Amino acid sequence: MPNTVLVGAQWGDEGKGKIIDVLADEADIIVRYQGGNNAGHTVTVGAEKYVLHLIPSCILHPGKHCVIGNGVVVDPVALVKELTELQARGISAEGRFHVSDRAHIVFPYHGLLDATREGNARKERKIGTTKRGIGPSYSDKASRIGLRMGDLIDPAFDDLLGVRVEEVNKVLQAMGADPVDLAQLLDAYHAAGKVLAPYIVDTTSFLDVACRANKRILFEGAQGTMLDIDFGSYPYVTSSSTTAGGACTGTGVPPQRISRVIGVIKAYTTRVGEGPFPTELHDEVGKTLSREGNEFGATTGRPRRCGWYDAVVARYSAMVNGLDFLAVTKLDVMDSLPVVKICVAYECDGVLYDTVPASIRTLERCKPVYEELPGWLTPTRDVTDLKDLPAKARAYVDRLCEVTGVKLGILSVGPKRASTLRVAL
Ligand code: GDP
Ligand code: IMO
Ligand code: MG
Repeated sequence: MPNTVLVGAQWGDEGKGKIIDVLADEADIIVRYQGGNNAGHTVTVGAEKYVLHLIPSCILHPGKHCVIGNGVVVDPVALVKELTELQARGISAEGRFHVSDRAHIVFPYHGLLDATREGNARKERKIGTTKRGIGPSYSDKASRIGLRMGDLIDPAFDDLLGVRVEEVNKVLQAMGADPVDLAQLLDAYHAAGKVLAPYIVDTTSFLDVACRANKRILFEGAQGTMLDIDFGSYPYVTSSSTTAGGACTGTGVPPQRISRVIGVIKAYTTRVGEGPFPTELHDEVGKTLSREGNEFGATTGRPRRCGWYDAVVARYSAMVNGLDFLAVTKLDVMDSLPVVKICVAYECDGVLYDTVPASIRTLERCKPVYEELPGWLTPTRDVTDLKDLPAKARAYVDRLCEVTGVKLGILSVGPKRASTLRVAL
C-alpha cells in the first residue's frame, strides 16, 4: 500500500474505524494525526465490538505499529483507561504503540472550560461539543501556554502545571465554575505518566526512519471535513485540521511522502451536535436512517441527525482533501427506502451554489436541490461482489460517485469486515 491518508468526508462518523480496520492489514504503521477522545471509531470483529477514542483502530491487528501524532490532543487518563480496557480483552500495545512527545495534553480544566462555555452560551451559539476539552486544549496550544506529553514525564511538570492551574482557576471562577485541585490533578497525571512513559517518544523521527525503510503508513483521520477548523461549517466545527493537510502538520511526515487520499463517506449524511445541515430530514425517512443505521454517537451516545447524501459537501470534500477514492459506507441502511435522493446543489435567495459557502448565515439558509432515484428494496447486507448488487442500488452508488467526481474504491454494506466490497482498492 502506498502511504495513504484516510479522512472523513462529511461531519464525522462515516465509518472510518471500520475502513481503517479493513485496510490495516496492508499497512505497517497507522497514525492518528489530529483530534482527541472526542472521536469514537467503532470496529466490529466477529461478535466483538470495539470503540476506540484515541488509539488508532489498527491496535486490533497484532504486530501493527500504532502512533498518536503531535497533532492529537491527549487526555492521558483517558488513554490509560483505553489501554487497560484493551489489555483486559487480550490486546497488548507493548512495543508497538507510540505517543508523540509533542502532542498536547488535555487536562480536566479543559473539559470544565468546554462544558461551562457550552452551558453559559446562548442557544444559538452552542456548538454541541463532546465536552472532552478539545477546544480549550487546542486554544492553549495556539496561545503557547499548553503542556505537552513530553512535559508529563519531565521533572518540571509539577511547576508547569502549577502555573497553569493558578491562572485557569481564576478563569473558571469568573465563569461560575468550580476551581480544580492541583494536588488531585498531580496525583492522577503522575499515575498516568508512569504508565505512559515507555510509549512517549519522538514519533516524527520514528516515522522518518520508517519512511526511509519504505514502511507503509496509513494516516487515520478523526472527525470529518465539515468539522475542520478552517474548511468546516465554522463555528460549528471541532478545533483541529481534520482534512488531508492535517496529516502532514499532525505527524511531521512531509507531503511528498503521501501518495493518496481516501475519503470515507456514508451513502447518506449524519451530523451530531449543532450547526447547519441542509439535507437534514425530520420525517419518517430520517427516522428510518436513524433506526436502521443505529445512529447514536459512539462517544456521547447522542442521537445523530440524519439526512440525504449531500453531493455539495462531498464535492467540496473532494476538493479540499484531494480525494482519489471514495469508501462509501452504510448503503445497506437505505435498503428499505422506496425512493432515494441526492442533493446536487443548494439554493439560497435565488442563487444556486455548487460548493459550500463560507458564511454560516448563508449555509443556514441554503435549501437542497434534489435528484431522485428509485430505491432498490432488496437487502444488500450479504452482497460480497459488486456484480451481485441490485441494479438500482448499483445505479445509486454510481450516480453518487459521478456527482461527487471521485472513483469508488470500497463499498461497505454492513459493520463487519466481511461486508466490504473492494472495488478499486
Ligand atoms: P467513525 O467515527 O467514522 O469511525 O464511525 P463510527 O464508528 O462513529 O460510526 C459508524 C458506525 O457504523 C459504527 O457503528 C460502525 O460499526 C457502523 N458501520 C460501518 N460501516 C457500516 C456499513 O456499511 N453498514 C452498517 N450498517 N453499519 C456500518
Ligand atoms: P469521529 O472521529 C462526529 C462534533 C461534536 C460537535 C463538534 C465540536 O467519531 O468521526 P468537540 O468536542 O470536538 O469540540 O465538538 O464536533 N464531533 C464529532 N461528530 N464524530 C466525531 O468524531 C466528532 N468529534 C467531534 O459533536 O458538533
Ligand atoms: Mg465516530
